[in-house]
Order: sequence, then C-alpha cells, then structure tokens
Amino acid sequence: MKRGSEYGLHRVIEPEGCLPQAALRISNDMTLFSNEILIDVQALNIDSASFWQLSEVSGGDRDEIGRRIMEIVAERGKMQNPVTGSGGMLIGTVAAIGDDLQTDLQVGDKVATLVSLSLTPLRLDRVIRVHHGTDRIDVAGQAILFESGLYAKLPHDLPEAMALAALDVAGAPAQMHKLIREGDRVLIIGAGGKSGLLSAYAAKEKAGPGGFVAGCDLAPDGGDFLLQQAMLDRYFACDATDAPSLMEKALAVGDGREYDVSVLVVNVPGAEMSAILPVRDEGTVYFFSMATSFTKAALGAEGIGKDVSMLIGNGYTKGHADFTLGLLRRYAPLRQRFADVYC
Ligand SMILES: NC(=O)c1ccc[n+]([C@@H]2O[C@H](COP(=O)([O-])OP(=O)(O)OC[C@H]3O[C@@H](n4cnc5c(N)ncnc54)[C@H](OP(=O)(O)O)[C@@H]3O)[C@@H](O)[C@H]2O)c1
Repeated sequence: MKRGSEYGLHRVIEPEGCLPQAALRISNDMTLFSNEILIDVQALNIDSASFWQLSEVSGGDRDEIGRRIMEIVAERGKMQNPVTGSGGMLIGTVAAIGDDLQTDLQVGDKVATLVSLSLTPLRLDRVIRVHHGTDRIDVAGQAILFESGLYAKLPHDLPEAMALAALDVAGAPAQMHKLIREGDRVLIIGAGGKSGLLSAYAAKEKAGPGGFVAGCDLAPDGGDFLLQQAMLDRYFACDATDAPSLMEKALAVGDGREYDVSVLVVNVPGAEMSAILPVRDEGTVYFFSMATSFTKAALGAEGIGKDVSMLIGNGYTKGHADFTLGLLRRYAPLRQRFADVYC
C-alpha cells in the first residue's frame, strides 16, 4: 500500500496543487492508500443549501435530483454542488482500514463522516431513494476518509437517520454554545429548520433564564414547537431576504433592544444583512448558512457602519458531535421532533 498525504493532496487531479475541497476534480479510485479508510456508503445527507438548489433546478423531481447528484459525483469524484460549493456528509460501514492508520475504528463499524462531502472521494453505483424534506439520499457506493478526516461512530441509542440528520449540522449548536454568554440576547434566523431547532436549544441552555432568545422563519407557525418547549421567548414570521422588515420585527419582539448574538441558519442566499442589522455594536454574527456571501456580509456591515464580529460557520468545533447528540439525549421532545421530521 502506498502512503498518501494526510489531507488527501495525493487525490487531487485538477487543478494541481490545491486541497481536495477547492479542487474541481479528485480521484475516486477506491484503491486504498495506507493512511485512508474505505467506507461502504449507505446514505448521504446533502447540505440543505445544495439540496434546495438541486431541487429548484430539477423542478422538485426526485429522480432528476438523483440523476444530477450521480452526474456531479461522476464529474468531480466528490459530491460538491457546483453552484453552492457545499457538500454534506455520509453514513456507512468501515470496509477497510489502511495499514498505517492508528484509529479506534474496526472493519464493520458504522460511522458518520464529519468532514464535508465536498472533499470526500466518493463513487456512487446508484441512488436508491431521494427523501424530500430530509435532504437525505440512500445510495450504494464507496467513499474514502483521509487520515485527517473526522468521523463519529454511530451511537447505538439513537436511530441512524436521526444521528445523520443531527451530525450534519452539529457545528451550529456547538458553536452557539461557545459563543453565547449567560444573559445574552440571541436571534436565530431560520429557527424552524434543523440547525435552527438545535441552535435554539443550545442558546436557551446557555443564555439561561436571564437571557432572551428570539427566532424567525418563513412560516407563521414555524416557531410553534420551540415556543411550546420554552426554547424560544418570541417568534416572528419574516422573509430573511427582506432585511429592513426583519430588523423591524426583531426589534419589536425584543422591546426595541438589539441582540448580542445572531445566527443565520436559512438555506437561501441574500440574507446576510438580516443577521447583521439587528445586532448591537461589538456583538457577534454567526453565519452558519452555506448560502452566505462573504462579500455581501463584509461590505454590507461596513456600509451601515456596524462594528460586529462575524464568524464563518466552520462545520467543526471541538466536541461538536458529542454536544449535539447530547442535546438529543437530554431533551425527549427534541428527539421526538427529529424522529417525526428528519427520520
Ligand atoms: N457551516 C456548515 O458547516 C454547515 C453545515 C451544514 C449545513 N449548513 C448550512 O446551514 C443552513 C441550514 O441548514 P439546515 O439543514 O438547518 O436547513 P433547513 O432545515 O432546511 O432549515 C432552513 C430553514 O430556513 C428557512 N428559510 C428558507 N428561506 C427562508 C427565508 N427567505 N426567510 C426565512 N427563513 C427561510 C426554511 O424554511 P422552509 O423550510 O419553509 O423553506 C427552513 O426552516 C443551510 O444554509 C446549510 O447549507 C452549514
């Protein structure tokens, strides 16, 4: 067995010299290098912004979405939506482990990869089923995890589909937990979605009784569950691409006061200013959405003279998988909600 680069540089085909995430094409030859792990893939969780875009161009047709995903993977050797640039993650079974790898994994272990599909060598034999509403597709195929690749063993106490759904967005609640301080005022834009739900639990836990957590989403009833569970103090419906309206409503539900922290977890472009406007000077804006434009956020904040810290939503923060699965374990209604909506 040959040894490859720990970051997967040896699999980059085009352009030469870049890392696998930035590459247009990587090798999905499943011959294993000595520091790689081979995975028999069972399901992909397509990033929500990517799934939304694929669904738009496919007129919502599941077969067409599946065909497009097969095409992208055949072209690029990885599942990276050429429009959004984003990927997703996968679950599967460890099929082989390179001789040089030190790992706690064994052949036959069920795992979720915690690195993006946008850099993961993937070969798809077929798409078995496209699940609308959960962004999940069941597939037959294989994937490679590089030496630096993060993974989580699938827990035995939670359904696999639930773990896949939650781990896909594990960075959001875990990072919120780190960003928020007791007593903070927090705004969640896209609160009705998957990362929105988890982020609200993380925010409410951390901000505590002295804090204030507001959420918004498109649907008027999008906050019902979180309000019932007392994980949001207030909810309002608003289109996040209409920043002036969103600011007005966000301030109105919060007694006219600005927010310390906002998180953007919608799956559509054009919502940057909605996350920036309602936040106080020297507050924090966390852009988890993959549809975020760096240019719009940076120039937009400058344009309105807002001195806010803006964080790119790194999908990884230390302990993110355990933290997020921990939320599901601690809160039975959240677990039930995930079972109802995402499994
Ligand atoms: N940074 C990372 O590493 C990372 C990892 C995974 C995912 N993500 C990104 O995180 C974002 C959220 O992912 P998710 O899985 O939580 O998605 P999701 O479950 O689809 O949630 C998105 C929510 O935003 C709402 N929404 C859509 N358009 C809106 C608008 N114009 N105004 C207000 N709300 C709107 C959706 O409402 P409807 O359902 O009614 O449309 C939905 O409730 C996506 O952009 C995804 O790409 C980032």
